Amino acid sequence: MGTPPIQSLQSRETAMPRVLIWDLPTRIFHWLLTIGFFVSAAISVTADEDSPLFSAHMIPGVVLGVMVVLRIVWGFVGTRHARFTSFLFSPVSLMRYAFGALNGSEPRSIGHNAGSSYAIFAMLGLVLATAVTGLMISNGNEAAEELHEIASYSLMAVVAVHIVGVMWYSLRHKENITLSMLTGCKEASADDAIPSSRPIVGIVFLLLICFLTVRLFQNYDRATGTTTFPGLGITIPPGESEGSEGGGGDDND
Ligand code: HEM
Repeated sequence: MGTPPIQSLQSRETAMPRVLIWDLPTRIFHWLLTIGFFVSAAISVTADEDSPLFSAHMIPGVVLGVMVVLRIVWGFVGTRHARFTSFLFSPVSLMRYAFGALNGSEPRSIGHNAGSSYAIFAMLGLVLATAVTGLMISNGNEAAEELHEIASYSLMAVVAVHIVGVMWYSLRHKENITLSMLTGCKEASADDAIPSSRPIVGIVFLLLICFLTVRLFQNYDRATGTTTFPGLGITIPPGESEGSEGGGGDDND
Protein backbone atom coordinates (compact mmCIF):
# COMPACT_ATOMS: atom_id res chain seq x y z
CA MET A 1 0.00 0.00 0.00
CA GLY A 2 3.09 2.23 0.04
CA THR A 3 3.13 3.43 -3.58
CA PRO A 4 0.06 5.30 -4.75
CA PRO A 5 -1.58 3.64 -7.77
CA ILE A 6 -0.91 5.89 -10.75
CA GLN A 7 -2.00 4.98 -14.24
CA SER A 8 -0.75 6.70 -17.36
CA LEU A 9 -3.07 8.45 -19.77
CA GLN A 10 -1.93 6.10 -22.52
CA SER A 11 -2.91 2.97 -20.69
CA ARG A 12 -6.47 4.31 -20.25
CA GLU A 13 -6.87 4.46 -24.01
CA THR A 14 -6.86 0.70 -24.15
CA ALA A 15 -10.42 -0.19 -23.08
CA MET A 16 -10.72 -0.55 -19.34
CA PRO A 17 -13.67 -1.64 -17.23
CA ARG A 18 -15.36 0.69 -14.73
CA VAL A 19 -14.36 -0.57 -11.32
CA LEU A 20 -15.11 0.47 -7.75
CA ILE A 21 -12.53 2.97 -6.41
CA TRP A 22 -14.29 5.12 -3.75
CA ASP A 23 -16.08 3.36 -0.91
CA LEU A 24 -19.49 4.58 0.30
CA PRO A 25 -18.29 6.20 3.59
CA THR A 26 -15.80 8.34 1.61
CA ARG A 27 -18.46 9.43 -0.88
CA ILE A 28 -21.03 10.21 1.81
CA PHE A 29 -18.37 12.10 3.76
CA HIS A 30 -17.45 14.13 0.70
CA TRP A 31 -20.95 15.25 -0.21
CA LEU A 32 -22.03 15.95 3.39
CA LEU A 33 -18.83 17.94 3.85
CA THR A 34 -19.59 19.91 0.69
CA ILE A 35 -23.18 20.67 1.81
CA GLY A 36 -22.09 21.55 5.37
CA PHE A 37 -19.29 23.77 4.11
CA PHE A 38 -21.55 25.76 1.77
CA VAL A 39 -24.30 26.09 4.42
CA SER A 40 -21.85 27.34 7.11
CA ALA A 41 -20.03 29.62 4.67
CA ALA A 42 -23.31 31.11 3.36
CA ILE A 43 -24.58 31.81 6.89
CA SER A 44 -21.32 33.27 8.13
CA VAL A 45 -20.94 35.52 5.09
CA THR A 46 -24.57 36.72 4.79
CA ALA A 47 -26.14 36.65 8.29
CA ASP A 48 -25.92 39.50 10.79
CA GLU A 49 -23.41 38.64 13.55
CA ASP A 50 -26.03 39.29 16.28
CA SER A 51 -28.73 37.18 14.67
CA PRO A 52 -29.77 33.75 16.04
CA LEU A 53 -29.03 32.32 12.58
CA PHE A 54 -25.41 33.45 12.87
CA SER A 55 -24.91 31.80 16.25
CA ALA A 56 -26.66 28.68 14.90
CA HIS A 57 -23.94 28.28 12.24
CA MET A 58 -21.85 26.67 14.95
CA ILE A 59 -24.09 23.58 14.52
CA PRO A 60 -22.94 22.70 10.98
CA GLY A 61 -19.44 23.65 12.19
CA VAL A 62 -19.57 21.11 15.05
CA VAL A 63 -21.02 18.45 12.72
CA LEU A 64 -18.25 19.06 10.16
CA GLY A 65 -15.64 18.79 12.94
CA VAL A 66 -17.06 15.42 14.05
CA MET A 67 -17.18 14.22 10.43
CA VAL A 68 -13.53 15.11 9.90
CA VAL A 69 -12.51 13.22 13.07
CA LEU A 70 -14.36 10.16 11.73
CA ARG A 71 -12.76 10.62 8.28
CA ILE A 72 -9.33 10.68 9.94
CA VAL A 73 -10.13 7.34 11.60
CA TRP A 74 -11.28 6.05 8.17
CA GLY A 75 -7.96 7.22 6.75
CA PHE A 76 -6.31 4.49 8.86
CA VAL A 77 -8.86 1.67 8.68
CA GLY A 78 -10.79 2.38 5.46
CA THR A 79 -10.44 0.90 1.99
CA ARG A 80 -7.32 1.21 -0.14
CA HIS A 81 -7.84 4.57 -1.92
CA ALA A 82 -9.38 6.19 1.17
CA ARG A 83 -6.36 5.36 3.34
CA PHE A 84 -3.86 8.11 4.05
CA THR A 85 -1.02 5.74 3.14
CA SER A 86 -2.31 5.76 -0.45
CA PHE A 87 -2.07 9.54 -0.73
CA LEU A 88 1.04 10.46 1.16
CA PHE A 89 3.12 12.20 -1.49
CA SER A 90 6.51 13.81 -1.05
CA PRO A 91 6.93 17.54 -1.80
CA VAL A 92 8.99 16.47 -4.83
CA SER A 93 6.00 14.51 -6.21
CA LEU A 94 3.84 17.56 -5.64
CA MET A 95 6.26 19.78 -7.60
CA ARG A 96 6.44 17.19 -10.37
CA TYR A 97 2.64 16.99 -10.43
CA ALA A 98 2.26 20.78 -10.48
CA PHE A 99 4.70 21.17 -13.40
CA GLY A 100 3.05 18.26 -15.20
CA ALA A 101 -0.40 19.82 -14.72
CA LEU A 102 0.87 23.08 -16.20
CA ASN A 103 2.60 21.59 -19.24
CA GLY A 104 0.02 18.85 -19.77
CA SER A 105 2.22 15.85 -18.95
CA GLU A 106 0.89 14.80 -15.55
CA PRO A 107 -0.31 11.20 -15.47
CA ARG A 108 -3.89 10.19 -14.79
CA SER A 109 -4.50 9.05 -11.21
CA ILE A 110 -6.78 6.33 -10.00
CA GLY A 111 -6.84 7.38 -6.34
CA HIS A 112 -6.00 10.90 -5.18
CA ASN A 113 -3.16 12.58 -7.08
CA ALA A 114 -0.35 14.55 -5.39
CA GLY A 115 -2.11 17.91 -5.87
CA SER A 116 -5.46 16.80 -4.50
CA SER A 117 -3.77 14.91 -1.65
CA TYR A 118 -2.17 18.07 -0.32
CA ALA A 119 -5.45 19.97 -0.77
CA ILE A 120 -7.31 17.23 1.09
CA PHE A 121 -4.94 17.30 4.08
CA ALA A 122 -5.25 21.10 4.11
CA MET A 123 -9.07 20.95 3.96
CA LEU A 124 -9.33 18.37 6.74
CA GLY A 125 -6.96 20.40 8.95
CA LEU A 126 -8.68 23.70 8.20
CA VAL A 127 -12.19 22.33 8.85
CA LEU A 128 -10.99 21.13 12.26
CA ALA A 129 -9.21 24.41 12.98
CA THR A 130 -12.31 26.40 11.97
CA ALA A 131 -14.58 24.28 14.18
CA VAL A 132 -12.27 24.43 17.23
CA THR A 133 -11.59 28.18 16.98
CA GLY A 134 -15.33 28.80 16.42
CA LEU A 135 -16.11 27.01 19.68
CA MET A 136 -13.37 28.98 21.43
CA ILE A 137 -14.94 32.27 20.29
CA SER A 138 -18.40 31.20 21.47
CA ASN A 139 -16.73 30.43 24.77
CA GLY A 140 -15.56 34.03 25.10
CA ASN A 141 -12.01 33.63 23.81
CA GLU A 142 -11.53 36.80 21.78
CA ALA A 143 -8.00 35.87 20.77
CA ALA A 144 -9.48 33.00 18.75
CA GLU A 145 -11.44 35.39 16.51
CA GLU A 146 -8.52 36.16 14.25
CA LEU A 147 -7.51 32.51 14.07
CA HIS A 148 -11.10 31.55 13.17
CA GLU A 149 -11.12 34.10 10.36
CA ILE A 150 -7.74 32.98 9.07
CA ALA A 151 -8.80 29.30 9.18
CA SER A 152 -12.19 29.87 7.55
CA TYR A 153 -10.91 32.14 4.76
CA SER A 154 -7.98 29.79 4.12
CA LEU A 155 -10.49 26.93 3.92
CA MET A 156 -12.56 28.86 1.37
CA ALA A 157 -9.41 29.52 -0.66
CA VAL A 158 -8.31 25.86 -0.61
CA VAL A 159 -11.85 24.73 -1.52
CA ALA A 160 -11.80 27.13 -4.49
CA VAL A 161 -8.42 25.72 -5.59
CA HIS A 162 -9.81 22.18 -5.08
CA ILE A 163 -12.86 22.84 -7.28
CA VAL A 164 -10.78 24.54 -10.00
CA GLY A 165 -8.30 21.63 -9.78
CA VAL A 166 -11.12 19.10 -10.22
CA MET A 167 -12.44 21.00 -13.26
CA TRP A 168 -8.96 21.36 -14.75
CA TYR A 169 -8.20 17.66 -14.26
CA SER A 170 -11.60 16.66 -15.71
CA LEU A 171 -11.00 18.76 -18.82
CA ARG A 172 -7.41 17.64 -19.29
CA HIS A 173 -8.19 13.95 -18.94
CA LYS A 174 -11.72 14.11 -20.40
CA GLU A 175 -12.92 12.26 -17.36
CA ASN A 176 -15.87 13.13 -15.09
CA ILE A 177 -14.21 12.58 -11.70
CA THR A 178 -17.09 14.38 -9.93
CA LEU A 179 -19.40 11.62 -11.16
CA SER A 180 -16.88 9.09 -9.83
CA MET A 181 -17.20 10.71 -6.40
CA LEU A 182 -20.95 9.96 -6.66
CA THR A 183 -20.92 6.48 -8.17
CA GLY A 184 -17.59 5.36 -6.71
CA CYS A 185 -16.48 3.97 -10.09
CA LYS A 186 -13.68 4.85 -12.50
CA GLU A 187 -12.20 3.27 -15.60
CA ALA A 188 -9.27 1.31 -14.22
CA SER A 189 -7.75 -2.11 -14.16
CA ALA A 190 -9.25 -4.83 -11.99
CA ASP A 191 -6.14 -4.63 -9.77
CA ASP A 192 -7.09 -1.07 -8.76
CA ALA A 193 -10.61 -2.02 -7.65
CA ILE A 194 -11.62 -2.21 -4.01
CA PRO A 195 -13.53 -5.39 -3.09
CA SER A 196 -16.45 -3.70 -1.29
CA SER A 197 -17.97 -0.24 -0.98
CA ARG A 198 -18.44 -0.92 2.76
CA PRO A 199 -22.16 -0.06 2.59
CA ILE A 200 -22.93 -0.79 6.25
CA VAL A 201 -20.21 1.57 7.49
CA GLY A 202 -21.50 4.18 5.02
CA ILE A 203 -25.10 3.90 6.18
CA VAL A 204 -24.15 3.92 9.88
CA PHE A 205 -22.02 7.03 9.23
CA LEU A 206 -24.88 8.75 7.37
CA LEU A 207 -27.43 7.94 10.10
CA LEU A 208 -25.05 9.06 12.83
CA ILE A 209 -24.42 12.42 11.16
CA CYS A 210 -28.15 12.95 10.45
CA PHE A 211 -29.00 12.08 14.06
CA LEU A 212 -26.29 14.40 15.41
CA THR A 213 -27.43 17.30 13.20
CA VAL A 214 -31.11 16.90 14.07
CA ARG A 215 -30.44 16.60 17.82
CA LEU A 216 -28.08 19.60 17.86
CA PHE A 217 -30.80 21.70 16.18
CA GLN A 218 -33.53 20.33 18.48
CA ASN A 219 -31.40 21.10 21.54
CA TYR A 220 -30.55 24.59 20.30
CA ASP A 221 -31.63 27.35 22.67
CA ARG A 222 -32.08 30.61 20.74
CA ALA A 223 -32.01 32.70 23.91
CA THR A 224 -28.58 31.52 25.05
CA GLY A 225 -27.16 30.46 21.67
CA THR A 226 -26.19 27.07 23.13
CA THR A 227 -26.96 23.49 22.26
CA THR A 228 -26.31 20.11 23.87
CA PHE A 229 -24.25 17.30 22.37
CA PRO A 230 -26.58 14.26 22.20
CA GLY A 231 -25.66 11.31 24.35
CA LEU A 232 -22.90 13.18 26.18
CA GLY A 233 -25.05 16.02 27.57
CA ILE A 234 -22.19 18.48 26.98
CA THR A 235 -23.32 22.08 26.46
CA ILE A 236 -21.80 23.73 23.39
CA PRO A 237 -20.23 26.25 23.67
CA PRO A 238 -19.26 25.18 27.20
CA GLY A 239 -18.86 28.60 28.89
CA GLU A 240 -22.10 30.05 27.53
CA SER A 241 -24.30 28.02 29.84
CA GLU A 242 -23.14 29.97 32.91
CA GLY A 243 -25.36 33.01 32.38
CA SER A 244 -28.24 30.95 31.11
CA GLU A 245 -29.34 29.52 34.44
CA GLY A 246 -28.98 26.05 32.99
CA GLY A 247 -31.06 27.02 29.98
CA GLY A 248 -28.72 25.43 27.40
CA GLY A 249 -31.07 22.59 26.61
CA ASP A 250 -30.37 20.70 29.85
CA ASP A 251 -33.74 18.99 29.68
CA ASN A 252 -32.57 17.31 26.46
CA ASP A 253 -30.09 14.49 26.13
C1 HEM B 1 -19.29 21.07 -5.75
C2 HEM B 1 -18.03 21.18 -5.51
C3 HEM B 1 -17.07 20.02 -5.39
C4 HEM B 1 -16.72 19.09 -6.33
C5 HEM B 1 -17.21 18.99 -7.76
C6 HEM B 1 -15.74 18.22 -5.73
C7 HEM B 1 -15.16 17.13 -6.33
C8 HEM B 1 -14.27 16.26 -5.75
C9 HEM B 1 -13.65 15.14 -6.40
C10 HEM B 1 -13.86 14.76 -7.84
C11 HEM B 1 -12.84 14.55 -5.51
C12 HEM B 1 -11.90 13.39 -5.79
C13 HEM B 1 -10.60 14.05 -6.11
C14 HEM B 1 -9.52 13.12 -6.53
O1 HEM B 1 -9.72 12.40 -7.50
O2 HEM B 1 -8.48 13.14 -5.87
C15 HEM B 1 -12.94 15.25 -4.27
C16 HEM B 1 -12.30 14.91 -3.10
C17 HEM B 1 -12.42 15.63 -1.94
N1 HEM B 1 -13.06 16.83 -1.78
FE1 HEM B 1 -14.26 17.72 -3.11
N2 HEM B 1 -15.53 18.62 -4.45
C18 HEM B 1 -16.32 19.71 -4.19
C19 HEM B 1 -16.41 20.42 -3.03
C20 HEM B 1 -15.68 20.16 -1.90
C21 HEM B 1 -15.74 20.93 -0.70
C22 HEM B 1 -16.64 22.16 -0.49
C23 HEM B 1 -14.88 20.37 0.17
C24 HEM B 1 -14.50 20.77 1.57
C25 HEM B 1 -15.10 21.61 2.33
C26 HEM B 1 -14.30 19.22 -0.48
C27 HEM B 1 -13.39 18.37 0.11
C28 HEM B 1 -12.91 17.21 -0.47
C29 HEM B 1 -12.16 16.23 0.24
C30 HEM B 1 -11.77 16.28 1.72
C31 HEM B 1 -11.88 15.22 -0.67
C32 HEM B 1 -11.19 13.91 -0.38
C33 HEM B 1 -12.29 12.88 -0.16
C34 HEM B 1 -11.78 11.79 0.74
O3 HEM B 1 -10.87 11.07 0.36
O4 HEM B 1 -12.31 11.69 1.84
N3 HEM B 1 -14.81 19.12 -1.74
N4 HEM B 1 -13.82 16.32 -4.45
